[in-house]
Amino acid sequence: MIEKSLWHPVALSADLAEAPVPVRLLGEAVVLWRDGEGRAHAWQDRCPHRGAQLSLGRVVPCTQGEGGARLECPYHGWRFDAAGQCREVPALPGFTPPATHKAPIFAAREAHGLVWARLDGEDAGELPAFEAEGDERLRKLNCGPYVVEASAPRLVENFLDMSHFGFVHEGWLGAREMAAIDDYQVEATPTGILATGCKAWQPQSTINSTRPAHVEYSYEVTAPYSAVLVKIPEAQSVGAEGYRESIALFICPTDAERCTVWFRLATADWQRNEAELQAFQDTIFLQDKPVLESQQPKTLPLDLRAELHTAADKASSFYRRYLKGLGITVGVC
Ligand code: FES
Ligand SMILES: [Fe+2]
Repeated sequence: MIEKSLWHPVALSADLAEAPVPVRLLGEAVVLWRDGEGRAHAWQDRCPHRGAQLSLGRVVPCTQGEGGARLECPYHGWRFDAAGQCREVPALPGFTPPATHKAPIFAAREAHGLVWARLDGEDAGELPAFEAEGDERLRKLNCGPYVVEASAPRLVENFLDMSHFGFVHEGWLGAREMAAIDDYQVEATPTGILATGCKAWQPQSTINSTRPAHVEYSYEVTAPYSAVLVKIPEAQSVGAEGYRESIALFICPTDAERCTVWFRLATADWQRNEAELQAFQDTIFLQDKPVLESQQPKTLPLDLRAELHTAADKASSFYRRYLKGLGITVGVC
């Protein structure tokens, strides 16, 4: 399954503190925990001794003088070091567990305010890119998680889709009498697809909009379940400001027909508090959610004959071909 060799976001970094956190990825129960050096770990959420859920346990300091922290199973208290090796079996104090007494571990990293995991355990390859991350003029913050009863690819398609603005986001991102979509360009990139020249008439494109505006965006699919939109500044403001606000969509395919979603905003707005910016994003996304959850099938059909397409759906047709080319199997049909 190719999805096991991709990095997926699984939790907000800020939510991973002292206690282990249970998450789900590709139908698999995963425990996240943070060791004494602050490094995040993602393991199978199942103790190799008798199958208890490790996330019900606790993170404890190492008592054998080696520093670091250990994950303690809730059932018989076996303690595992950061590499997954069992180091202590409380029922047998003098026993040194052999190398075979090991918890199955996955790979974990942190970026974009999120913990990422890779189920094949390979700590290799790149996470989905978010160019704005390094732009210090832009403030970054995450919105979500939103748990959605739909497949991750249906979510990505919704993010790329401008022709729903006038209906799903009427009065906010669009208006039904202004629903026409100008032609735009789509091309393949080394990691996904890029749509440029995407224009929309928007009554309230951001929390700070004071009047309707014609807004231009580019949309990039950066990985099978990740995408980034960049707001292209109006020509006269490019020189003056030079930055491009953007929003990344990061999706955890918890199951084939369910996912957890985060948005990472890169905004020039340093004034408003985080809760206000997040509330705007919540409002927009909660407009999408019921429609997304109503789509049948919940998985995305990769056979282009299975649903109908027009020129306005060019980005979505490209996306389906891209997933098919990669051999993606989760969340598609
Ligand atoms: S089940 Fe984990 S220590 Fe026994
Ligand atoms: Fe939407």
